[in-house]
Amino acid sequence: MTKVAIIGAGPCGLSTLRSFEQAEKKGEKIPEIVCFDKQEDWGGLWNYSWRTGSDQYGDPVPNSMYRYLWSNGPKECLEFADYSFDEHFGKPIPSFPPREVLYDYILGRVKKGNSKNKVKFSTTVTNVVYNGSNFEVTYRDKKKATSSTDIFDYIVVANGHFSVPFIPEYPGMKAFPGRIMHSHDFRDAEEFRDKNVVVLGSSYSAEDVALQCHKYGAKSVTIAYRHNPMGFKWPKGMKEVFHLDRLEGNKAIFKDGHIQETDAVILCTGYLHHFPFLSEDLKLKTGNRLYPPKLYKGVVWQNNHKLIYLGMQDQFHTFNMFDCQAWFARDVIMGKIKVPDSSEIEKDINKWVSMEKKLENADQMIDFQTEYTKELHTLSDYPKIDFELIRKTFKEWEHHKVENIMTYRNKSFSSPVTGSVGPKHHTDWETAMDDSLKTFLDQPKG
Ligand SMILES: Cc1cc2nc3c(=O)[nH]c(=O)nc-3n(C[C@H](O)[C@H](O)[C@H](O)COP(=O)(O)OP(=O)(O)OC[C@H]3O[C@@H](n4cnc5c(N)ncnc54)[C@H](O)[C@@H]3O)c2cc1C
Ligand SMILES: NC(=O)c1ccc[n+]([C@@H]2O[C@H](COP(=O)([O-])OP(=O)(O)OC[C@H]3O[C@@H](n4cnc5c(N)ncnc54)[C@H](OP(=O)(O)O)[C@@H]3O)[C@@H](O)[C@H]2O)c1
Repeated sequence: MTKVAIIGAGPCGLSTLRSFEQAEKKGEKIPEIVCFDKQEDWGGLWNYSWRTGSDQYGDPVPNSMYRYLWSNGPKECLEFADYSFDEHFGKPIPSFPPREVLYDYILGRVKKGNSKNKVKFSTTVTNVVYNGSNFEVTYRDKKKATSSTDIFDYIVVANGHFSVPFIPEYPGMKAFPGRIMHSHDFRDAEEFRDKNVVVLGSSYSAEDVALQCHKYGAKSVTIAYRHNPMGFKWPKGMKEVFHLDRLEGNKAIFKDGHIQETDAVILCTGYLHHFPFLSEDLKLKTGNRLYPPKLYKGVVWQNNHKLIYLGMQDQFHTFNMFDCQAWFARDVIMGKIKVPDSSEIEKDINKWVSMEKKLENADQMIDFQTEYTKELHTLSDYPKIDFELIRKTFKEWEHHKVENIMTYRNKSFSSPVTGSVGPKHHTDWETAMDDSLKTFLDQPKG
C-alpha cells in the first residue's frame, strides 16, 4: 500500500487530511497516511501559544500568532468550498473574525471526521532522505524522547513558512537599553502601553503589530520601511519614516533624518523558508513570493514528483487555495492526475514565474494568485466556489484599507459559497478590546 507522510497539521496539513477523507467517503481506496506535528495539537499557527523561544523539550516554538489578532483579510476570501462559515456557526457572522473564531472554523470540518487518529502529535520530523525509490523519514517523539525511522512513498511538506524569523542587525543594537524583538515573539500589545515603539518593515506584520500597539495604548508608534512605505493614513500617534540607520542609546535614527526616542524595536522583517529536516537536494530555496520556483503547479517538486510542498507561496488566498493544492496533490498521489514530462513542467513553471516578475501592484498580485488558484481548482473535484467574487472582494478590501486603515475591518462582504452577507459586528474593530470567540459571536439580536 502507498504510504504518505504529511509534515505539519496546520491549515495545509489539515486540507490534505480532509482531501483524502473526502475521497474515502466516495468509496475510493486511499493510501496509508501518517501526519506529524511537533505541537501538542493541530491548527498550526492558529493554535495560539504563549510560549516563545523553545518549548519544554528544547524544540523551537513554531508559533507566531499573538493575542488580539483579527483576520487581516475578509473571511469570505478564505472560506472552504466544502464547509461554509454559515454551516459551522449556524448563522452568518461578521467578515473579519478574531483568531479564536478562525481557529474554531478551521478545526470544525476535520473534527467531524476521523483524521485525528492519523496525526502523531508532539512529534518532530528531523530527517528526510530519498533513497532512490522512497523516502526514509526520521521523527522524534518528544514526550517519549525516542527517535524512529519509517519508509514513505510520498512526502507532503506542510510545515508553514512563517515560523522561523528573519532577524537583521542594525548598528547600535548591542548597546540599546530597551527591548528588541521579532514579530515572531510578539504576543501581547499591552506590553507596550505608554511606550515609544519602533516597528521595522512594511508588510502585514509591520502594519498589524503597529496598529495593535497603537490600539492598546502605546505612546507613539514609528514604522520604518526599507523600500516602499505602506502609505496608509495613520492615526494620530503613528507615523511612517524611511529606513532605520542606527540606534544611539535609546534613540532611533532614520535615513530620512527623523530621530525618535524609543523603548522597544519590533522587527517585522519577515520569515525564512526553513526545512532543516530535508536533505539539500529536496529543499525548496526561496524568499516569500507568489510563485516559488521548482514547483509544478506551485506544489510538486520539479526534481522529484513524490515530494509535494503545500502553502509555500506568499499569501493573499489562504485556506481555499490550500484546499485546491491539497486536492490536486491527493490526485497526483492517487495517480488520478499524471504529472507531465520534464519539458512541459519546465514550461509551466517558467510561464508562472515570468508572469510573477511583471506584477506591479496589489490588484495585479490578487489577479495572479486568483488565476493560479482557479487553474488548480479546475484540475480536481474540489467543490464549486465563486473565485470571481473572491477576486472582487480582495480588491474592494485593498481599497478599503487605503481609504481608512482603522475601519476596513468593520466592512461586510458576501460569501462565495452560500451568498450570505456578513452582518456588521456589534463593536468597531478599533474599540473591540476583547477578541474572544464568545464576545465576538454574542451579536445582539436586532
Ligand atoms: C502572525 C500571522 C498572522 C496571520 N494571519 C492570517 C490571517 O489573518 N488570515 C490568513 O488567511 N492567514 C494568516 N496568516 C497566514 C498563515 O500562513 C496561514 O493562515 C496558515 O497558518 C498557513 O498554514 P500552514 O499549514 O502552511 O502553516 P502553519 O500554520 O505554520 O502550520 C505548520 C505546522 O507544521 C508543524 N511543523 C513544522 N515543522 C515541523 C516538523 N519538522 N515536524 C513536525 N511538524 C512540524 C508546526 O508545528 C505547525 O503546526 C498569518 C500568519 C502569521 C505569521
Ligand atoms: N492577521 C493579521 O493581521 C496578520 C498580522 C501579521 C502577519 N500576518 C500574515 O503573516 C504573514 C507574514 O507577514 P510578514 O509581514 O511577517 O512578512 P513579509 O510579508 O514577508 O514581509 C517582510 C517585511 O520585512 C521587511 N524587511 C526584510 N528585511 C528587512 C530589513 N533588513 N530591514 C527592514 N525591513 C526588512 C520587508 O521589507 P522590503 O519590502 O523592503 O523587503 C517586508 O516589508 C503574511 O501572510 C501576513 O498576512 C497577518
